[in-house]
Amino acid sequence: MAHPPLLVTYVLWAAIATTICIDAIGTHNKFFSCMNDNFLPFVNTSKYVYTPSAYASLVSTQHNPRCSNSTESQKPIGIVTPENTAQIRAAILCSREHGLQVRVRSGGHDYEGLSYLCKTSFIIIDMRNLRSITIDINHETAWVQSGATLGELYYHIANKSQIHGFPAGICPSVGVGGHFSGGGFGAMVRKYGLAADNIIDAYLIDAKGRLVNRETMGEDLFWAIRGGGGASFGVIVSWKIKLVRVPPKVTVFNVHKNMSQQITKIVHRWQHVAHRVQNELFIRVVIQYIRDDKNTPVQALFNSLFLGELKDLIPLMNKSFPELGLQPEDCIEMSWIESVLYFAGFPRGEPAEALLGNETDPYVSYFKAKSDFVTKPIPKHVFEGIRKKFLRQKLVFLIMDPYGGQMSEIPESHIPFPHRDGNLYNVQYLVKWEKNGVRASTEHIHWLRSLYRYMEPYVSKNPRSAYLNYRDLDLGTNPHANTTYSEARVWGEKYFKGNFKRLAHVKRNVDPKGIEKGKSVKEMKLFSIHLILDRVDPSFSFRNAQMHANMARTQAEQARKNTRTSS
Ligand SMILES: Cc1cc2nc3c(=O)[nH]c(=O)nc-3n(C[C@H](O)[C@H](O)[C@H](O)COP(=O)(O)OP(=O)(O)OC[C@H]3O[C@@H](n4cnc5c(N)ncnc54)[C@H](O)[C@@H]3O)c2cc1C
Ligand SMILES: *[C@@H]1O[C@H](CO)[C@@H](O)[C@H](O)[C@H]1NC(C)=O
Ligand SMILES: *[C@@H]1O[C@H](CO)[C@@H](O)[C@H](O)[C@H]1NC(C)=O
Ligand SMILES: *[C@@H]1O[C@H](CO)[C@@H](O)[C@H](O)[C@H]1NC(C)=O
Ligand SMILES: *[C@@H]1O[C@H](CO)[C@@H](O)[C@H](O)[C@H]1NC(C)=O
Ligand SMILES: *[C@@H]1O[C@H](CO)[C@@H](O)[C@H](O)[C@H]1NC(C)=O
Ligand SMILES: *[C@@H]1O[C@H](CO)[C@@H](O)[C@H](O)[C@H]1NC(C)=O
Ligand SMILES: *[C@@H]1O[C@H](CO)[C@@H](O)[C@H](O)[C@H]1NC(C)=O
Repeated sequence: MAHPPLLVTYVLWAAIATTICIDAIGTHNKFFSCMNDNFLPFVNTSKYVYTPSAYASLVSTQHNPRCSNSTESQKPIGIVTPENTAQIRAAILCSREHGLQVRVRSGGHDYEGLSYLCKTSFIIIDMRNLRSITIDINHETAWVQSGATLGELYYHIANKSQIHGFPAGICPSVGVGGHFSGGGFGAMVRKYGLAADNIIDAYLIDAKGRLVNRETMGEDLFWAIRGGGGASFGVIVSWKIKLVRVPPKVTVFNVHKNMSQQITKIVHRWQHVAHRVQNELFIRVVIQYIRDDKNTPVQALFNSLFLGELKDLIPLMNKSFPELGLQPEDCIEMSWIESVLYFAGFPRGEPAEALLGNETDPYVSYFKAKSDFVTKPIPKHVFEGIRKKFLRQKLVFLIMDPYGGQMSEIPESHIPFPHRDGNLYNVQYLVKWEKNGVRASTEHIHWLRSLYRYMEPYVSKNPRSAYLNYRDLDLGTNPHANTTYSEARVWGEKYFKGNFKRLAHVKRNVDPKGIEKGKSVKEMKLFSIHLILDRVDPSFSFRNAQMHANMARTQAEQARKNTRTSS
């Protein structure tokens, strides 16, 4: 039995005592002894971290809304940074033993901070040390651990092959763990679907501490973790993915237009084209307003990846979307990995190693986002309405990602992510601000909610659906610890539509402790065990330290230039 050395214990305790209450210290101590006594000598290793500054730095270095001053969330009893599955298992079992919740953090990008916030006593399992990536080009597969970032994954694929890639999100600092378990889409979504569509196996540790893979977890659970939100079902350690083929040369363009009547017409036209063109072509539109001292107007940015060469793109655009007037000079041919850097907002010529850095989001601000799916083209006057509303903010984005192509081929029930055929595109509304504080947050969040109300007649209905990875607690949270299926449906069907029912069934089987035997699904208690999320109240003052680099390229590049000249 390993006992913690006195000095270390004292330092830990002194630090903790200043920020958490006596009860929490007691719980901390019990959790801590459990880890030591039953599993491993944990105290003097980097695998077990708790100091208030460790939490503060964890919270402040995240790329998503932060609520370091939240009165709703407690501070964690501990932050465990495991290096192997035994340590994850220990952390889960000890937290169960002492009635603690578990929060799992991979890349920390959750829009509402759910990977590190909790109303009741909890620990954080931080996956940062579990980030290995093994590429098998012969079989066109890879194993990637949850703590890796998308940038690391892309880099390692490109390091092994010029003609392979993976269809996941655009921002390189996003973590594999949250991204894959929530769906995950990027510039190859029309050709290859979601990241989650391309997962073929996984290792997970469940609420009982068992390590299972696809074969031993069963197809129901394997279905659930590919888009159903991982944290309700266990800690996903690693994923086996199917790599996809990319041509040695792809073509990108980025065309900025000031919003005017003429441009509104083009944006309107885009709605008829983008989901229908050949699957190799992805054109998204970002309507953005970045108020500066130069009186920059609201702009529409057409941001595109073509899985092919310039000589084929130009006639294709001329035929299907001549309104944009794309010129060869607007386009650049490059390798797929260069296109990843391009979309992420890096300057031309930046080496691929930049994807390995942790400085990929140089800009800090607070944000709130919401999402919609669009099933029929939005009338022209609505874009004019959006433009006018944007002028009341300083930093706002409306990001429209086209679907169609492969997304329409995959059935709604294939994985929990249900937004398939019939959706023209996804919309994300995003407002950012620079100064935190209850008043500022309230004002901006208020504005975003009013934009969301304005859009209601023009987007998907019954339910008005949303994308899980753009998590939005306005859509509903579990009202209490014993939330039932009927209560959870309020938010569940917005993210999952008809798939929510199956998710609830899987949850019941995986985690029967939270559910009373003999009750029907309707009455069962959802998410009421230790591995849960979605219990945080929406009315926080959020702190957010991230940047959608690709959406504000100019700012990103500027910041990077500044960093460079100052270093
Ligand atoms: C700047 C930025 C850009 C983005 N760009 C895109 C994009 O292009 N496309 C897109 O689809 N999405 C995008 N997103 C959304 C992103 O996919 C989600 O926020 C995603 O959930 C983040 O995953 P993470 O691991 O970084 O976050 P985390 O905060 O670590 O986790 C998110 C959720 O997943 C759970 N979780 C994390 N790891 C595990 C695990 N190992 N096992 C079980 N549960 C786990 C967490 O508990 C939490 O609930 C973007 C987000 C940001 C902030
Ligand atoms: C704890 O770690 C420190 C620094 O690594 C080391 O000097 C010390 O000997 C360790 N103590 C024990 C009891 O292992
Ligand atoms: C939290 O509140 C303190 C005191 O009001 C303030 O100094 C600090 O900047 C706040 N932190 C954040 C991240 O907003
Ligand atoms: C692959 O990575 C190694 C370092 O691990 C590096 O030396 C080599 O140049 C890389 N190759 C390519 C093609 O990126
Ligand atoms: C867009 O507006 C800016 C600022 O008003 C102006 O400098 C720029 O020339 C305009 N661009 C186009 C294409 O009209
Ligand atoms: C575009 O198509 C028109 C005919 O529809 C043709 O006249 C023109 O040359 C084409 N332009 C390019 C760049 O292919
Ligand atoms: C980012 O990398 C730098 C070194 O390049 C390191 O000092 C820093 O701690 C890292 N930050 C995080 C949050 O990992
Ligand atoms: C939830 O249910 C359990 C057992 O049925 C009960 O003991 C507990 O008080 C309930 N909690 C709440 C918040 O209703």
